[in-house]
Amino acid sequence: MYNLLKGKKGIIFGALDENSIAWKTAERVHEEGGTFVLTNAPIAMRMGQIKDLAEKTGSEIIPADATNLDDLQKLVEQSVEVLGGKLDFVLHSIGMSVNVRKGRHYTDQNYDFTTKGWDVSAVSFHKVLQTLHKNDAMNEWGSIVALSYMAAQRTFPDYNDMADNKAYLESIARSFGYFYGKDKKVRVNTISQSPTPTTAGQGVKGFDGFIAYADMMSPLGNATAAECADYTLTLFSDLTRKVTMQNLYHDGGFSNTGVSNEVMEKFVK
Ligand SMILES: NC(=O)c1ccc[n+]([C@@H]2O[C@H](COP(=O)([O-])OP(=O)(O)OC[C@H]3O[C@@H](n4cnc5c(N)ncnc54)[C@H](O)[C@@H]3O)[C@@H](O)[C@H]2O)c1
Repeated sequence: MYNLLKGKKGIIFGALDENSIAWKTAERVHEEGGTFVLTNAPIAMRMGQIKDLAEKTGSEIIPADATNLDDLQKLVEQSVEVLGGKLDFVLHSIGMSVNVRKGRHYTDQNYDFTTKGWDVSAVSFHKVLQTLHKNDAMNEWGSIVALSYMAAQRTFPDYNDMADNKAYLESIARSFGYFYGKDKKVRVNTISQSPTPTTAGQGVKGFDGFIAYADMMSPLGNATAAECADYTLTLFSDLTRKVTMQNLYHDGGFSNTGVSNEVMEKFVK
């Protein structure tokens, strides 16, 4: 451990169970000396094992639906109070598509589902940023990270409307990152992570094939949730102060690989 986050305070959204990227991140932030509030949608809190994580990391849990501005206001106010000062880092690790859940094809969307999924997966990031900004809740050189996927740039047929949500999410990081940088010297970035076996990930149709293919296509292999946590820590640390408004690939090289020898071998007669 490097004590990278000693004295830093933050909020971690999205730890549902021990597979969650947010869960692994919370464990690593704790190891690096950071303190934080854990939050999730009230409905997920009952299902998940977030209390175990809170005990293990000495954290408080404050429930909040990330689409609800009143919840977010309370969360930010209470977090600053509980942690004893302004925040240095925030992780937005939230995603959900109702169309995916209900098995609606991309060419046959229910637009109420589309709107709900967009609100949860993308607009919630703007709501979090706006609430932090209005409350002046971040310290200078603070860092805010959301998690994305490469379907924002390239088509993966079964990723459905989550592809559009991720494109929107990444755009929010750029747009808000401009203002937050100018006003408060706060960084805003997205990490574009490899397919990862979590509840959200496994909701994508054909996930097993998808993750195996990505692994075979990535020179370094797929990045795990634990490795994603490590990468996130670097963005929360003081070592990356001038990195902002970026979408950063954390995918073992997948995004820049045309084809790998292993995949080619499957087509050679
Ligand atoms: N798993 C993958 O393959 C993969 C790949 C790239 C990016 N990501 C992204 O990583 C992030 C974390 O997902 P994960 O893979 O750890 O899965 P996960 O299912 O463990 O986490 C998703 C979280 O979103 C929370 N959530 C849903 N609706 C919410 C709401 N209204 N308010 C607050 N929280 C809400 C869930 O309760 C859950 O904790 C997501 O943005 C996901 O799209 C995942």
